[in-house]
Amino acid sequence: MSLLEAATRVRENAYVPYSRFKVGAALRTEAGHVHVGCNVENAAYPEGTCAEAGAIAAMCAGGERVIAEMLVIADCPEPVPPCGGCRQKIAEFAAPDVVVTLCTTEGKERRMTVAELLPGAFTQAHMDRS
Ligand code: THU
Repeated sequence: MSLLEAATRVRENAYVPYSRFKVGAALRTEAGHVHVGCNVENAAYPEGTCAEAGAIAAMCAGGERVIAEMLVIADCPEPVPPCGGCRQKIAEFAAPDVVVTLCTTEGKERRMTVAELLPGAFTQAHMDRS
């Protein structure tokens, strides 16, 4: 299944009583497996958990750690930009040259690398002296 198809499908499962804004994410690992996530909100933290974070959590739960490509889709005028926290989470598990495709449900696409999404990322290497 393509990442576009997987993300489009899982987006329908988003639980968004507060924002009403459904987001779907799908990633392929270096081993070739696809993991998906949708956003899930709650009354105490109405921003909830992002779709990207959900897909990353599913990947880790499946015992994998390396993202080879990722796609995010939402119904907005321009391709949905991942939030700051998700950019950091993606950068933790994807090399700087990995492509993240940002999509709208109407078919607009923007391809960005992880380095473009989060220039100057803070990484484990910055803690090497500790
Ligand atoms: N959201 C995502 O799931 N991913 C993004 O890239 C942007 C925002 C969600 C979080 C929240 O459920 C809703 O969209 C509005 O912020």
